[in-house]
Amino acid sequence: MSEPLLSLGPFQGITDAPFRNVFKRHFGGVDKFYTPFFTGIHKEDHAKNLQGEEIDPRYNDVETLTPQILSTDAEEILRFAKQCKQLGYKEINLNMGCPFPRVANKKRGCGLLPYPDKVEAMLEGVFEHIGDMKFSVKCRLGYFDPEEIDAIIPIFNKFPLSELIIHPRIGKQLYKGEADVNRFKALIPFINAPLVYNGDIFSAETLERISKEVQPVNEFMLGRGILANPFLAEQIKCENVPDDKTHRLHDYLIDLYEDRLRHAGGSPKVLGRMKELWSYMMNSFDEPQVVWRKIKKINALKEYEDAVEEIFRNQCLTSQVFSGYGASAPHDR
Ligand SMILES: Cc1cc2nc3c(=O)[nH]c(=O)nc-3n(C[C@H](O)[C@H](O)[C@H](O)COP(=O)(O)O)c2cc1C
Repeated sequence: MSEPLLSLGPFQGITDAPFRNVFKRHFGGVDKFYTPFFTGIHKEDHAKNLQGEEIDPRYNDVETLTPQILSTDAEEILRFAKQCKQLGYKEINLNMGCPFPRVANKKRGCGLLPYPDKVEAMLEGVFEHIGDMKFSVKCRLGYFDPEEIDAIIPIFNKFPLSELIIHPRIGKQLYKGEADVNRFKALIPFINAPLVYNGDIFSAETLERISKEVQPVNEFMLGRGILANPFLAEQIKCENVPDDKTHRLHDYLIDLYEDRLRHAGGSPKVLGRMKELWSYMMNSFDEPQVVWRKIKKINALKEYEDAVEEIFRNQCLTSQVFSGYGASAPHDR
């Protein structure tokens, strides 16, 4: 089997442009990135939220970044595609996976999956005018029921999707239970689009296991696993093996924090995003709950800086982070 293609899944509130750029400076192995989803593309040209650093090609690599939209409106998706194209992007991605009730209850994200007719009308509208812009979809198995995707696949097959990323859970599960690798595997022969597997890849060992199950699929989107262990993509690809992980992790976190602080003009608002990342990163340490208790109560910059130094002084990284092996799922905060 050739080397897998790896992407870093989008996380609203975490994997923004500063994160992606700092991540790329410190770690290898990730071939492709996605923006967290955009919404509200109301204007025909220059929608306000498509003007900032998050999408501006001066801060992003248009060759390896795919902007994502959360919408069910073909016209809005086309406005987004047009503006992304003007910025130099080659592909956009539609979020049909978001499970959060305030999104899904409005038949958006994975809340659209029980309505094949609406999906078909939306995709017809999109593909009629999208031209040479590539269009991909990220979805779950369903919102209420994992069989919902069975009615959606023939619709996806009518259109030239550039890829279909499937996270094999249903929306109602949020992130509970396990990703259903067997169900993903059973769908493979029925899907025309290039397929990407996403879900519960927490170590190189898990990827090896899942990869054997889902052959010939060889593209994987990493999520919480790589937020917790940013060496994961390197470990999967056996890059940069002999190195000092503790120092690298420390330097990355400092760099990200300082970068976020610069962007926020020194405001303690940055703490929210750093804490969100630590809610995954804590799993890199032998005592995740001790680490999380220190981080979660912080509300001043100095406290945060001291806590990070204390964690690196007193806590050890898990053997899973050192080796990439060990199949345990992360703890929840
Ligand atoms: C806090 C949070 C924010 C997320 N934001 C997005 C998003 O903006 N777009 C998207 O497609 N998926 C989003 N996701 C889903 C992840 O990209 C990924 O699909 C999910 O975590 C499953 O992969 P994993 O099991 O490897 O973590 C989000 C998940 C979480 C927990």
